[in-house]
Amino acid sequence: MKALILAGGFATRLRPLSCARPKILFPVLNKPLLEWTLESLSKSGIEEAILAVNHQTAFHIKNSKFSKGKMKIAYSYDPPKKPLGTGGAIKNAEELLGNDNFLVVNGDIFTSINYAEVIKRHEGNDATATIVLCTVKDPSRYGVAELGYNSRIKRFVEKPQPGESPSNLINAGIYVLSHEIFRYIQYGRRVSLEREVFPKLAEEGKLFGYIFDGLWTDIGKAEDYLEINKILLDSLRGKLKNVIRGGGQINEPVFCDESITIKEGSTIGPYAVLGKNVNVGRNVYIKNSIIFPGVLISDDSFINGAIIGENVVVGRGVKINGNCVIGDCAVIGNNVSLAEGVSICPAKEIYQDVLEAKCII
Ligand code: GTP
Repeated sequence: MKALILAGGFATRLRPLSCARPKILFPVLNKPLLEWTLESLSKSGIEEAILAVNHQTAFHIKNSKFSKGKMKIAYSYDPPKKPLGTGGAIKNAEELLGNDNFLVVNGDIFTSINYAEVIKRHEGNDATATIVLCTVKDPSRYGVAELGYNSRIKRFVEKPQPGESPSNLINAGIYVLSHEIFRYIQYGRRVSLEREVFPKLAEEGKLFGYIFDGLWTDIGKAEDYLEINKILLDSLRGKLKNVIRGGGQINEPVFCDESITIKEGSTIGPYAVLGKNVNVGRNVYIKNSIIFPGVLISDDSFINGAIIGENVVVGRGVKINGNCVIGDCAVIGNNVSLAEGVSICPAKEIYQDVLEAKCII
């Protein structure tokens, strides 16, 4: 069976970090999400993945150094400047997908699911689509399913108003689809699978659910992205090897690329991931944060709960607080404080405190 990975969205909720890379290339424990996804598909016996991309995403993917293992990769392109939506992108890949059932995976999810189990379940039902469903506390930002007899989905509602959700079972962004699905999607137009196709299939009794209660999260927002790194740090506690040069201290769980330097008096962790060639000065404190490759953090700085983009320069005595997101190549000048929730656009230079949550463009 082939897998179609949807990866041509614009990741608006992850800006400014997504200005420089698509979600599918965001590092999770220093490894691109795409690589995690391909590995997990391989384990489920999938040998070929088609990436549904736009031209910009394709450019980034092809220029990145992800490892595809034994997976055969093909690309299906949305037309330039014409996003097709989740449904349109599936229709666009019809020829590449052939006549068999196929798996669809949103490119922005991290999960421990065994895809082979979902495929087996789909084949046992008279289903056009089988959706993986996960339970969440607040379903209002997802597609929500109301399950009926024998795992048939009676109703599918995309992003219901708070309090109007038919259940807490949400669309996990993993589907097995039968070839019949193509009859429901018009070619060449933007189509949302979730808003246009699934509700119709539910009405016709052709939509089924597969409840999964293992590890699942999407990295749609910065908090979610921090959270999945944290969950993995916890689950791999004691198994992650950190070789630190420079005399700094580690407070587990932490994952540092082996190329980094941390000088004396600095403490990293708990819950910090530091990418390739990160350079940390003296008396720095970093916790609950993700630091992308090539970042320089000068002496006496403090970072808690932030994501720092590639090649950012953090000056001396800087304070970066919770939920701050710093775009690639930005410069934060000496002694600057950033309040909680500040976002800085790529390459921006900041020399004054930012005392309230806002985006600096
Ligand atoms: P936001 O703008 O932050 O909502 O992100 P998004 O649109 O990139 O992601 P969303 O969660 O809405 O989409 C789910 C998956 O479908 C993601 O992996 C997207 O990359 C992908 N996707 C969304 N829209 C398109 C599209 O128009 N074309 C293609 N090829 N993929 C898409």
